[in-house]
Amino acid sequence: MAEYSIMQPMRRFSGSETQSHALPKVARASGCYVTDTNGKQYIDGSGGPAVFSLGHTHPEVNAAIEEQLGRIAHGYRYSFTSDALERLTELIQHQAGPGFEHIVFVTGGSEAMESALKIAMQYHWTLGEPSRKRFIARKRSYHGNTLGALAVSEFLQRREPYEGALTECSFVSSANNYRLPEGVAESQLHDYLADELEQEILRHGPENVAAFVIEPVVGAAGGVVPAPEGYAMKIREVCDRHGVLLIADEVMCGAGRCGTWRALEHDGIKPDIMTMAKGLGGGYVPLGAAIYSSRIGEPIFAKSGGPNTGHTFTGHTLACAGAAAVQEIIVRDKLVERVRVKGVQFQENLKDRIGDVEAVGDIRGRGFFVGVELVSNRETKEPFSPELMMFDRIRRHAMEVGLICYPAGGTLDGTRGDVVILAPPYIASDDELEEIIAKFDRTLRSAVEDV
Ligand SMILES: Cc1ncc(COP(=O)(O)O)c(C=O)c1O
Repeated sequence: MAEYSIMQPMRRFSGSETQSHALPKVARASGCYVTDTNGKQYIDGSGGPAVFSLGHTHPEVNAAIEEQLGRIAHGYRYSFTSDALERLTELIQHQAGPGFEHIVFVTGGSEAMESALKIAMQYHWTLGEPSRKRFIARKRSYHGNTLGALAVSEFLQRREPYEGALTECSFVSSANNYRLPEGVAESQLHDYLADELEQEILRHGPENVAAFVIEPVVGAAGGVVPAPEGYAMKIREVCDRHGVLLIADEVMCGAGRCGTWRALEHDGIKPDIMTMAKGLGGGYVPLGAAIYSSRIGEPIFAKSGGPNTGHTFTGHTLACAGAAAVQEIIVRDKLVERVRVKGVQFQENLKDRIGDVEAVGDIRGRGFFVGVELVSNRETKEPFSPELMMFDRIRRHAMEVGLICYPAGGTLDGTRGDVVILAPPYIASDDELEEIIAKFDRTLRSAVEDV
């Protein structure tokens, strides 16, 4: 085992950056299992970081990628379109339904968010409102690590060196049933949040606000936080009232992960612009997409011929071929429906198994996107002391028992708060789902005992 640090080991970040311990070297994988170079096997209980929707080395996806590579790796966007690009476009439009006519394909989630922010600004500029340049986003949400995506992410440690150079953005409360704003009852939460958003728009002047950015189900920054029922409709109304666009970041929660292909389908609304990445290419190819309606696209195309965004690898042919194969299998094998049905059972079985562990404060999520929030006191919901680095303990214990899960730290305020994310591949069998729960149970109990 080599000592290998992913990023700065001295700093305490949420998510995967605090991996200062020795990492095993990956050798190969198949389905839900990953094997390291020592021959140790791990069950992938989090699809990496909620990426591997079809598990690993799916023969049909691999064959599609090889077949494309044998023809051409990439047809550059100013010279060619391709079967792969067109097929993936059709599949996304089919899965997303009306209101998602235009797509910019990029190489990942941050670029997808970058594109979404630019499309929002260009839309307003096109309609003669160039002052609409600032954004509103939510606390404890993450949208990526490029300058624009970081500007709308409330991730203090990652932002710190760049403060002053980031696009203007202000942050409203996160939409979290388990951790309510002070003095707000659960039944009042969506009204409180909608009103807070409206006041924030009015404070800056609607003529200066381009878009409100949300993760429909918050990923690693908050630890799988679905917004309360009714919330999405309320904020959609507020945005419409003030000509503010709604950007849904479905990089982590989308592409079927939550049991609907678009996470916001569950909430009965459509955003103006939606981003996807991780599960779209299922980890086989680096791919992200900013997907938007013809209402947004038509004026942009009429004035400028298209959005002023794109890169060398925009619509990369090989990436599109891999993602098209992933999405075709998801449609053919009805995997989104499977995630919806099995997800309910998975959460129930998990609750039965670990519900008695005192450190479990909350178990929540949708589909195959589940968060287990750990607390030192169930009554007061007091988090563990950050010095204990509970999330990292969980990661280490899990790797020991042969489980890949996704523990996130700092989920409460950037420093405190530990949530473990479980996000199995959509193809996980009942036995594999049971194995993930059993191994997580062992992990949790031994990590808590270790404190
Ligand atoms: C919700 C969300 N948006 C955007 C991103 C950025 O995606 P990427 O890491 O592919 O650039 C992430 C990554 O974790 C994410 O979880």
